[in-house]
Amino acid sequence: MKTYIVGNWKLNFTVGEASIYLHKLMKALPNHRDMEVVVAPSTVALQPLSLQIDRHKMKLAAQNAFYRDYGAYTGETSFLQLSGIVDYAIVGHSEQRYIFGQDDKMIAKEVAAAVRNRIRPILCIGETESERAFGETTDVIRDQLLGGLSEIADDDLEKVIIAYEPVWAISSTKVSKLATPDEVAEVVKLIRKTLVDTYGKKATEKVSVLFGGSVNPSNAGAYLTVPGINGLLIGGSSLILSEFTDIIEVAKRVKV
Ligand code: 13P
Repeated sequence: MKTYIVGNWKLNFTVGEASIYLHKLMKALPNHRDMEVVVAPSTVALQPLSLQIDRHKMKLAAQNAFYRDYGAYTGETSFLQLSGIVDYAIVGHSEQRYIFGQDDKMIAKEVAAAVRNRIRPILCIGETESERAFGETTDVIRDQLLGGLSEIADDDLEKVIIAYEPVWAISSTKVSKLATPDEVAEVVKLIRKTLVDTYGKKATEKVSVLFGGSVNPSNAGAYLTVPGINGLLIGGSSLILSEFTDIIEVAKRVKV
């Protein structure tokens, strides 16, 4: 299985800044056989960066897109418009769920639209701090996982990448708010068991599961060695070139 190192730039970098960063990153990128390095810039930067990127070295992801191909949807960008520009798309990120009100039904349509347009969706799931405190983690993870996958055919399961991002561990500066590898292991086990129970063992083996939530060069190794984890989804640390390349180096040591 490939190891995925995905940088989610969120709402950062102008198009010019993104282009300069990409240029530097492609130069600094260590050899990374069996590893897929992906960055997710703002939508406005995707098209110019797609002309600049060397797809043998790395790939682009969208951070979000709308499930209809075209129509009267002011302000939206469709997966159809992004096909040929990106190889991946982040879908159902918690910031889309909680700031912009996306729900599992909409997210399921986005997963299906991505697959339909030959873009691999990275379906993000994760519980909030209060859901964890009230013992609802298992239900939330199951609902978001099966809800998000509900609009695709079983045969398409292997095209979807799952990212576990506990909402309480995102953008955390406090060590007490970091997910421990044991906490991550428990949820990854639950994700894989839920998939096996629903789709069978064989179909599930090819599904990659990533972890995200304040990943940096010092904790990346510990998360990458959690059983069942195939990579990382990185926010803040992916904006700093040296940190992002350090994480790729760690992944090379740990996984390849
Ligand atoms: P941070 O790495 O900044 O916590 O962000 C994680 C994330 O939301 C990636 O999608």
